[in-house]
Amino acid sequence: MSDSARQPFELDGEFIGFVGHTEKPKYIHLGCEERVMQVKLAKNLRSLLATTLEPGTRLRVSGRAKLERRNGQLSLKAERVALLSESDGTSVDAELSTTPGSDRIKILVCQKSKCRKRGGQRIYEAIEAAVRDRGLQAQVTLKSSGCLKRCSSAPNLLAGKQRYKSVRLKDVSAILGEYCVI
Ligand code: FES
Repeated sequence: MSDSARQPFELDGEFIGFVGHTEKPKYIHLGCEERVMQVKLAKNLRSLLATTLEPGTRLRVSGRAKLERRNGQLSLKAERVALLSESDGTSVDAELSTTPGSDRIKILVCQKSKCRKRGGQRIYEAIEAAVRDRGLQAQVTLKSSGCLKRCSSAPNLLAGKQRYKSVRLKDVSAILGEYCVI
């Protein structure tokens, strides 16, 4: 995943429903004219929107779009969501987005022997460089950790409560993309 592959987008449409976990849904379906678009929500939007949106609400959603090479489909990630006025459907009534980074993610990378032998240090350095290069310092806290008790699947890391095993350098962007607005 590279920043250059992502382009800004803005869509007006009707909220149809959530996809995924009911308390922190990962996606919404947005009706735009004749089409239904699936839009991934930045992590800091999920719990807020779960308690706010009703089907039929008119929204303005903006964020970053990327063309997925594997299936030729457009992947949309929302960074901002606003309620549109019921009277004219085009002016913004309320901004629902929270400040990016308010859901700061803590990433722990195991630096004990088995993980270090299998590239744990390079994983740590790659995350550190990606956070710095993409300006994600406000969204990520990165720390070394002791043994995470999954030595057979080294190298291991924890992002929030999510465990990642057998992590490879090429996984770093995708892992950060799960938690950050990038
Ligand atoms: S050494 Fe990393 S999980 Fe045990």
